[in-house]
Amino acid sequence: MSTPTDRPATWFVTGASRGLGLELVAQLLERGERVAATTRSTERLLSALGDRADTARLLPLAVDLTDEAAVRRAVEQAAAHFGALDVVVNNAGYGFLAAVEETGDREVRAMLDVQVVGVWNVLRAALPILRRQRGGHIVNVSSVLGLTAVPGWALYCAGKFALEGLSEALAAEVADFGIGVTIVEPGYFRTAFLSQDSIALPAEPLADYPAIRRMTADHLKLQGGQLGDPVRGAAAIIDRVAAGEGPLRQLLGSDAHAYATAKVEALRAEVEAAAQTAPATDFPAS
Ligand SMILES: NC(=O)c1ccc[n+]([C@@H]2O[C@H](COP(=O)([O-])OP(=O)(O)OC[C@H]3O[C@@H](n4cnc5c(N)ncnc54)[C@H](OP(=O)(O)O)[C@@H]3O)[C@@H](O)[C@H]2O)c1
Repeated sequence: MSTPTDRPATWFVTGASRGLGLELVAQLLERGERVAATTRSTERLLSALGDRADTARLLPLAVDLTDEAAVRRAVEQAAAHFGALDVVVNNAGYGFLAAVEETGDREVRAMLDVQVVGVWNVLRAALPILRRQRGGHIVNVSSVLGLTAVPGWALYCAGKFALEGLSEALAAEVADFGIGVTIVEPGYFRTAFLSQDSIALPAEPLADYPAIRRMTADHLKLQGGQLGDPVRGAAAIIDRVAAGEGPLRQLLGSDAHAYATAKVEALRAEVEAAAQTAPATDFPAS
């Protein structure tokens, strides 16, 4: 089992003050679990929770996920406070919409710092605890854009593809310790993700990319009308972990399923087309 049956489970959730992270925290508290929730603003987290859930079992933690020492302290504080650590959810993330050549060095590093380095910081701090206790579950919130890439989303996809690669390897490395890994791949969800408060845009857009500007405007207009329901999304993630087993990837939303299907079909066609040509670079059998 990925979650204990004889006591409430202890969850560690990043990016908790809004959206999917907030919904996870609220539902976990409502179900009687214990939650250490990291955010850049504990004030925003507590005010967003309001009186929706009993916060006696909540440990709000102000953490800069890119600061390795701060992340280590937060994970250790959570484990000490609750006397356990069972499930870790790397949820924090944000979108960035620009063409590849419009994306600056600082913007690339900032995205990868949150989506890759930050996740790695959490894993390095949490895995020794889970490994020692021979059990636990890691949930890495990717995106269907961690499977397939579309114009304008290159930097976001670069971060999520990296997250998928590290998660796939991790799952195989820790299975023998009884640690489960789930990669969550949402489609469009009705959170703050596409709001101007969340999504980042290039500092120096180029006039030669009008299609990316139109796509950006269309996405900003989509805010509030996304197909995915964060309440159902959070519940699906919690249920999957509680079930203790399931495939490595958890697609959320019919849009995500359609995008993933198209990617698998395109990839299969490319792999099959290479069946004759790929062996040509092998050393001949001696
Ligand atoms: N909504 C979608 O359409 C969608 C689709 C696919 C994947 N996702 C993924 O789902 C996860 C949750 O996103 P959401 O939809 O809930 O969006 P959201 O409402 O914008 O919430 C994102 C959360 O990530 C944290 N975050 C954002 N930028 C950050 C930064 N620079 N440094 C540290 N933390 C940061 C924030 O935490 P604090 O403000 O509390 O620090 C915030 O609570 C993300 O990983 C996102 O990529 C979302």
